[in-house]
Amino acid sequence: MIQDSFGRIHDYLRISLTDFCNLKCMYCMPEEGFCGTHSPHLMSRDEIVSILIAFVEMGVRKVRLTGGEPLVRKDFGAIVEGIRHLPVSLHLTTNGVLLNKYIDLLWESGIHALNISLDTLRPERYLAITKCDLFHPVMENIYQALNRGFKVKLNVVVIKGVNEDELWDFVKFSDEHGIGVRFIEFMPFDGNKWNNSGVLSSADMLEIIRSKYSYVKLNDGVHDTDRKYQLSGSKGHFSFISTMSDAFCSGCNRIRLTADGKIKNCLFSLNEIDILSAFRKGENIESLVRESIYKKAEKLGGQFEHYADLHNPAEISNREMIRIGG
Ligand code: GTP
Ligand code: 5AD
Ligand code: SF4
Repeated sequence: MIQDSFGRIHDYLRISLTDFCNLKCMYCMPEEGFCGTHSPHLMSRDEIVSILIAFVEMGVRKVRLTGGEPLVRKDFGAIVEGIRHLPVSLHLTTNGVLLNKYIDLLWESGIHALNISLDTLRPERYLAITKCDLFHPVMENIYQALNRGFKVKLNVVVIKGVNEDELWDFVKFSDEHGIGVRFIEFMPFDGNKWNNSGVLSSADMLEIIRSKYSYVKLNDGVHDTDRKYQLSGSKGHFSFISTMSDAFCSGCNRIRLTADGKIKNCLFSLNEIDILSAFRKGENIESLVRESIYKKAEKLGGQFEHYADLHNPAEISNREMIRIGG
């Protein structure tokens, strides 16, 4: 069992497989000066498998593969083959661009739930946000996943002046397809031009939805990142990830492992611990992992409390989001 100094048990590991991506989302990928990490600095497939086995022995029971975009990694299939038999529930967060290529492998490997990032239902806006003209192929892949029986949740980063006029459309979409749509407050990371005026709080989003639809509150799990609601009589649901206005850190059970093998004990942690170098030297990584988690701050990496108090994004130090993996 991995525990922090506040008694929180950490049994959910998010592994970033790469910091390369096939999209260039405005809130994630810096416009200039970003260069992805190449092997030999990345964890190899075999290192990922061995390191994960060590985490499983320490009590990790849920694993999410992230990126960058995890599906751009050439040996994605081999990685999944290497970890699919471990006693963990396996999950994936993807932008959906390459889903068609891996849909059979994912299903056969027991990955039946997909979190897919999609910030707009409008093709022109998709191009503006991602700088890539891939809206239609991504939508086809989402429909393919739904037809195949995957449980799909859409991750929608909501930015004022960019896509807040689509809340109703997404809620309708969740209802029509019986899926979950999660509205995420815009978060600050290096190079993403964050400004607190771009944040639309969950409370404000709910108010917008309330002006058109009536809904009920659903129950949330202790470790959930999102607060869930449902239109009356709907098979789908919508929810809010309110990191910036109402953080949910008290139930945190998450550990992040970056593609270059560093432990980040929080999405906003300042310190990282390099377990890949230790692993390569044949050292025991268990004590490093435990020490890192033990030092975890109570909330938001100890960096801020509420977005309204954060006037200068430079007050926060962090990696670029593409190098964290969400
Ligand atoms: P589920 O297992 O389906 O609950 O997914 P998840 O929310 O853990 O993962 P996902 O990769 O879909 O992340 C969705 C959004 O939640 C992203 O914007 C993440 O940055 C944010 N998120 C995920 N984990 C954390 C966390 O530990 N803290 C905070 N503040 N945000 C998180
Ligand atoms: N703010 C909020 N969410 C973000 N994500 C990436 N960058 C940001 C940001 N600046 C989300 C992606 C993806 C998830 C892993 O993290 O949309 O769905
Ligand atoms: Fe956990 Fe840090 Fe996210 Fe809070 S901000 S939920 S402590 S990872």
